[in-house]
Amino acid sequence: MSGIFNSSIGRKIAMALSAFFLMIFLLQHFVINSLSVINPDTFNEVSHFMGTNWLIQYIMQPVLIFGVVFHFIMGFILEIKNRRARQISYAKNNGAANSTWMSRNMIYSGMVILAFIVLHFIDFWFPEINTKYIQGDMSGMHNGEFRYFHELQEKFLSPARVAAYVIAFVFLALHLLHGFTSAFQSMGSTAGRKKAMQNFGKAYAIIIPLGFIIIALYHHLNHH
Ligand code: HEM
Repeated sequence: MSGIFNSSIGRKIAMALSAFFLMIFLLQHFVINSLSVINPDTFNEVSHFMGTNWLIQYIMQPVLIFGVVFHFIMGFILEIKNRRARQISYAKNNGAANSTWMSRNMIYSGMVILAFIVLHFIDFWFPEINTKYIQGDMSGMHNGEFRYFHELQEKFLSPARVAAYVIAFVFLALHLLHGFTSAFQSMGSTAGRKKAMQNFGKAYAIIIPLGFIIIALYHHLNHH
């Protein structure tokens, strides 16, 4: 197993696989949270299903958290190794000439997303884990009705939190603008359809973060 991580190809493939997993998570997370704008009752029902379904809670959630932690650790390892390699090659050719700002700054957009995830876990995930697994209340109820929609709305009252989320989502877009196609390239699966893949990647990298920005601003401006 460790052999894979000893080769730069192996590390890049591992990074790409964790990126694919997180991009699929982000899509489902966006769809579920966009329900909070479209239909709060459906959002409550879907949140309760996701929050109490054993497959999601005991299989998918641990795999997701492992995927998040793995992606960040591998990201730092790759950055350190790339910097060492770059120092050697930079003298020969101006590396900046043929790379985008996004590709040269993945570690910084990644660090902003990491800071967001920490805030986000404090805001949503830790309270969820506390209510269900420490307090032992799996009912999802508060004052006789589902609690998920109201808890989400409460979080978006604070202008400072909304500003932090919106800034993080802009950096998420910058990270995905390079990360999406780069992950497919690492897997060698852009052959012959590079243009289509790049356009799809650009659309994903803009629509998903923009959608999250709209969700955050909607709840800040429309408090029920
Ligand atoms: C407006 C945007 C967002 C809203 C309203 C939102 C809402 C939530 C909620 C309610 C939970 C708790 C779910 C539960 O554990 O039952 C959660 C968890 C989580 N969120 Fe978000 N989220 C947003 C954006 C994001 C983004 C952009 C990312 C990744 C970059 C993200 C990553 C996660 C992760 C990893 C978890 C913990 C795993 C899980 O429980 O699903 N979220 N979020």
